[in-house]
Amino acid sequence: MQIFLDSTDTKVIADLASTGLVDGVTTNPTLIAKAGRPMLEVIAEICDLVPGPISAEVAATTADAMIAEGQKLASIAPNVVVKLPLTRDGLIACAAFAGEGISTNVTLCFSATQALLAAKAGATFISPFIGRLDDYGFDGTDLIRDIRTIYDNYGYETEILAASVRNVAHVKEAAIVGADVVTIPPSVFADLFKHPLTDKGLEQFLKDWAGTGQSIL
Ligand code: G3P
Repeated sequence: MQIFLDSTDTKVIADLASTGLVDGVTTNPTLIAKAGRPMLEVIAEICDLVPGPISAEVAATTADAMIAEGQKLASIAPNVVVKLPLTRDGLIACAAFAGEGISTNVTLCFSATQALLAAKAGATFISPFIGRLDDYGFDGTDLIRDIRTIYDNYGYETEILAASVRNVAHVKEAAIVGADVVTIPPSVFADLFKHPLTDKGLEQFLKDWAGTGQSIL
């Protein structure tokens, strides 16, 4: 399973990428606004920090304008993935990019039938927003499960990128139902390492080792 960071904080991205466990980065207009810097500058910096797929989202809403913006974003670096909203125009633009060999991430997906259309449009990634579904009392994991079934039924190569992840449980559930990628906030990434029994066990190991009076080096 690939792990992407959902962030535009380049200092944090650099730090977490140093673990060797970060496979890509996703951004969106809200995250770009939080960065408080020019979008093209932020995306270029992230592309230098992480060699994997870097999602940069268009702001246009019509297919022709999305294509123009997406081509500019794709020109930033070879690892840019053009992020498009799951709308009729977004899927028209998606199909155009598929024809040009430009990778795409179709975002704001909330139903399996939307995901079916994105795969038919040749999307590289589909981003079902599981946290926002959970926020409204739906089960975001069920959506990923349904998309996995549909994509496997027809051999679609579009990768399921579980997004809007709120916690470690979402990561586990997405992995169990077969998401190809999960994109997570830096805080959730940090939580993935943690378990109180690990801390407790290590504390005891170190205490017992200290009692031996030995050193390995
Ligand atoms: O960036 C796409 C997605 O991860 C956004 O999630 O937390 O705004 O629902 P969120």
